[in-house]
Amino acid sequence: MSRKKVIAGNWKMNKTPEETRQLISELIGAVKDAKSDVIICTPYTSLALAVELTQNTNIVVGAQNMHYEQSGAFTGEVSADMLLGLGVKYVIVGHSERRQYFGETDETVNKKVTTALSKGLVPIVCCGESLQQREQGITEELVRSQVIIACNGISKEDVKKIIIAYEPIWAIGTGKTATEQQANDVCKVIRTVIGELYDSETADLVRIQYGGSMNAKNAAQLLSMPDIDGGLIGGASLKAGDFSVITNFNG
Ligand code: 13P
Repeated sequence: MSRKKVIAGNWKMNKTPEETRQLISELIGAVKDAKSDVIICTPYTSLALAVELTQNTNIVVGAQNMHYEQSGAFTGEVSADMLLGLGVKYVIVGHSERRQYFGETDETVNKKVTTALSKGLVPIVCCGESLQQREQGITEELVRSQVIIACNGISKEDVKKIIIAYEPIWAIGTGKTATEQQANDVCKVIRTVIGELYDSETADLVRIQYGGSMNAKNAAQLLSMPDIDGGLIGGASLKAGDFSVITNFNG
């Protein structure tokens, strides 16, 4: 089963609109021959500009979060329809930083996945363990339960569209990448869970990314593993040259 690689940049809270213009102008040329699908998840304030600047390119734009309700009294929040109205196609859901700092839970992740899919946005669903959880030996159990809850009530047809990102928290922004074997082992667990919840054909189709200090130097090894179908890239997505290197593997 060959799944096309998907590389998504998570810009996090970086880049003003002016800086966005600059980075995208560099990225367009740098990734134009990418072998993978290319997504950039910019801050909300840059989304409209990013969609406009990437028209007729191979770069697709995603958001980093959204609310699960359609509309209403949720000060500061942004809905799926608002993102779709800008031309956004993807949305990161349940990033560990949102779980840690903004009270995201497995239940809100499931609500967001449900809303995103019902509206036609593709969720990039994040899961992953802390260093303490890894040391306690509960990585598999934890990631299993994150994936089971995220997929609760999601149909087989819909689950085929989602991207799951395995991001061990201890590897995010630390320069401490998981070894390709550690990363692949957990991505394989995730695929097994999808197979148990749905069937093996569905599990074969779902794309599973690794994220956590993936960069131009270590991407080739990670992306050569059988169950790693791409990357969710933080720091290295802010440099056009580094990001483009990561988009050039497809096997
Ligand atoms: P870094 O690549 O900076 O470790 O960030 C990973 C991440 O959190 C992507 O969502």
